[in-house]
Amino acid sequence: MDRPIITLKLATSLDARIATVTGASQWITGPESRAEVHRMRSTHDVVLTGIGTVLADDPELTARLDPPPARQPWRVVLDRDGRLPPASKLVQTTDKAGLIWCTGDHVAAEEVAELSGVKHHLLGRSQAGTVGLDLNEVVRLLTNTYQIKTLMVETGPVLATAFLRAGLVDHIAWFRAPLLLGGDGRPVFESLNVQDLSQAWVLQQTDHKQFGRDVLDCFDLSPT
Ligand SMILES: NC(=O)c1ccc[n+]([C@@H]2O[C@H](COP(=O)([O-])OP(=O)(O)OC[C@H]3O[C@@H](n4cnc5c(N)ncnc54)[C@H](OP(=O)(O)O)[C@@H]3O)[C@@H](O)[C@H]2O)c1
Repeated sequence: MDRPIITLKLATSLDARIATVTGASQWITGPESRAEVHRMRSTHDVVLTGIGTVLADDPELTARLDPPPARQPWRVVLDRDGRLPPASKLVQTTDKAGLIWCTGDHVAAEEVAELSGVKHHLLGRSQAGTVGLDLNEVVRLLTNTYQIKTLMVETGPVLATAFLRAGLVDHIAWFRAPLLLGGDGRPVFESLNVQDLSQAWVLQQTDHKQFGRDVLDCFDLSPT
């Protein structure tokens, strides 16, 4: 498929946790890293997230830079069951940046109409059938309808893992703070079903930078 370049952005503790055992996550990385994330958003056509992150963090997902960028990325939320709150920052900031709401084709028309000002699309369920929307359909929609060339995935473990397992990640930008949260913290990925080391995802490091006390490591994914 002719599709956008997809970068998965991760922000974790040194031991690859995105939250503590109680779910506390703001902020694991420092202000310098977060400023770099705003710059990265401004260089992408789309910043995509999952409904889990919206309900947990209520993010705006705009590029807040001084001076402001020439254009804001589209924000995209994947939300199969139509749970996007009308009062969420994503919905309340459509005057600053466009919002594309991808929800399930079983969601009632009146629920969709409630979020006027938001571009909405009704899509099918994931091929795996377990959770969420069909990611290939999402990417096709963004490619064909919105002519998206670059996409940054800023999600939690569920959707980050789904993108990886669907073979839809080209680059990983991984911010790590010098903190240890331990094995009961929430891991950055869900199961990748790696049974043997030969099945591990192999990454090629392309960059390494320091942001305050944190490091940013960038990787390309090897085609499998
Ligand atoms: N450190 C970081 O870089 C970072 C970044 C963002 C968020 N977070 C943290 O991550 C946590 C939330 O993560 P999360 O894993 O619960 O939520 P998430 O990955 O943001 O969203 C998961 C939800 O997306 C929906 N979805 C739609 N299509 C999907 C598909 N094909 N595959 C999988 N999911 C799909 C599903 O809900 P439906 O089935 O209802 O559609 C799913 O439950 C929060 O604690 C937040 O702070 C961390």
